[in-house]
Amino acid sequence: MRRERRSVVANEKVGPYTLLRVDRGGLEPGIPGQFFMLEAPGRLLPRPMSLCLASAGELAFLIEAIGPGTRAICALEPGDRLAILGPLGNGFRLDVDRPLLVGGGIGVAPFPYLSERLGCPPAVLGFRSDWHAEAAALVPNAEVCVEPRLVTELMAPGQDVLACGPEPMLEAVRRLIPTAQLAWEAPMACGYGACYGCAVEIDGTLKRLCVEGPVLCS
Ligand SMILES: Cc1cc2nc3c(=O)[nH]c(=O)nc-3n(C[C@H](O)[C@H](O)[C@H](O)COP(=O)(O)OP(=O)(O)OC[C@H]3O[C@@H](n4cnc5c(N)ncnc54)[C@H](O)[C@@H]3O)c2cc1C
Ligand code: FES
Repeated sequence: MRRERRSVVANEKVGPYTLLRVDRGGLEPGIPGQFFMLEAPGRLLPRPMSLCLASAGELAFLIEAIGPGTRAICALEPGDRLAILGPLGNGFRLDVDRPLLVGGGIGVAPFPYLSERLGCPPAVLGFRSDWHAEAAALVPNAEVCVEPRLVTELMAPGQDVLACGPEPMLEAVRRLIPTAQLAWEAPMACGYGACYGCAVEIDGTLKRLCVEGPVLCS
């Protein structure tokens, strides 16, 4: 884990989302599903983001602007600098025989990198509109559905499911495939176990998602 100030290389729009490409410096991409804390200049708290894409010289993050922190990050332009800490937390287990990626909305953010590491397995991705579904172009071998159709309708049994998306989607996936690997979310202030801000109750136990997750397996 390292903390570095890196420069924005490009800010690209993908439907309603922003793909922020930054120069990689000495940062390691880590395991898909791990996350980084991104801090825009002048912001008090950093924000957790999954790694979307990694190349030799760049790291890229797919971001949905939903509040002040994400809006500040999405407003960064080429040449702007931001602080990045990571990789953090536990990513997906990659020792799976029949992977199926299941994603919803901005939950597809870690899938381009995950797909690359797993050799482009099938993916089923759900979005709330065709505009949001433009993000599916980043994930090879993806079948897409748009609401009111739900992503769980595209799932087939007998596969090793790796899922990321809104909580109701994760709960529905878990009901169908109890062994699925699920990437959970909670607001995070530190990202490395110090503040307890990310503690959530899962199956009756309090877990700090930043150190015990964000990916949890049953
Ligand atoms: C491990 C991890 C990886 C993530 N990866 C990505 C990613 O790749 N791309 C992306 O766009 N977003 C990602 N997120 C979510 C992102 O961190 C939040 O959207 C962001 O922190 C919101 O900050 P804000 O200041 O823009 O909005 P805020 O003003 O902080 O929040 C706006 C609203 O969203 C709620 N909220 C904020 N954060 C979360 C959260 N984490 N879970 C549930 N509700 C929340 C708040 O309660 C509030 O209602 C990830 C979160 C986690 C924990
Ligand atoms: S974000 Fe601080 S303990 Fe998890």
